[in-house]
Amino acid sequence: MENFLYFKELTSTNDYIKENIDSLENKTIVFADIQTKGKGRLGRQWQTPTGNISMSMLFKNQKCDISLYPLICGLSVSEVVDEVCGVNTKIKWPNDIILNNKKLCGILCESIISKNSVDVICGIGVNVNIKREDFDKSSLPYGTSLFIELQKEYDPIDISKKIATNLQEKIKVFNEFGFTSLKTLYEEKLVNKGKEVQVINNKETIVCTCLGINEQGNLLCNYNNKIININSGEASVRGLYGYV
Ligand code: BTN
Repeated sequence: MENFLYFKELTSTNDYIKENIDSLENKTIVFADIQTKGKGRLGRQWQTPTGNISMSMLFKNQKCDISLYPLICGLSVSEVVDEVCGVNTKIKWPNDIILNNKKLCGILCESIISKNSVDVICGIGVNVNIKREDFDKSSLPYGTSLFIELQKEYDPIDISKKIATNLQEKIKVFNEFGFTSLKTLYEEKLVNKGKEVQVINNKETIVCTCLGINEQGNLLCNYNNKIININSGEASVRGLYGYV
């Protein structure tokens, strides 16, 4: 695969791309076996010991709605894991990949906005071979890995390359035809759809029924017979009795 850069160790694959963005070509993939300062959403850390996937992919000069990239990444990872492992992963809105009701993958997309262009860095962390006892206690009880669920080791590089190929194809479709066809695929995997969810923002928690997403990737819910839409920057979602 062209433009696949392998590193034994980096602080963060997203940060590596940010720091070297001018010299990196469009669609470069950066993979690190270990990240020493992996970043999660909402300023959290992302633990990445050896044997897992920490990868970032660069899409330069993008013209589409950047808030949809995390959802498209989630769809790619979910499809590839299903194909490689023969499972049926789901997506918890907006972009956590769920296997057996636990979180297998986290995604952090960042954008670099300059005068004439927007470059998007899609950061993907998949727990592949990590054992239960090696999980940081703070990641439990919701975190899991392919090894924990399937008692089998997988090759992180092979899966990363498959994710990169799938994601490149999806971003091409997105750039050419928009989000509509990807939205249908996404909603088929949306674990929250048709279920009651708690929507949590910093002021309040409400309970409503998830209907799907809209063309902007916002979650659509029925709340007291009114349709409301929820933006992922403003609120998070939990099941009524647990993570999903
Ligand atoms: C989350 O909080 O769920 C998102 C976690 C994203 C982790 C990935 S690992 C590769 C890339 N580099 C980073 O520093 N973070 C992302």
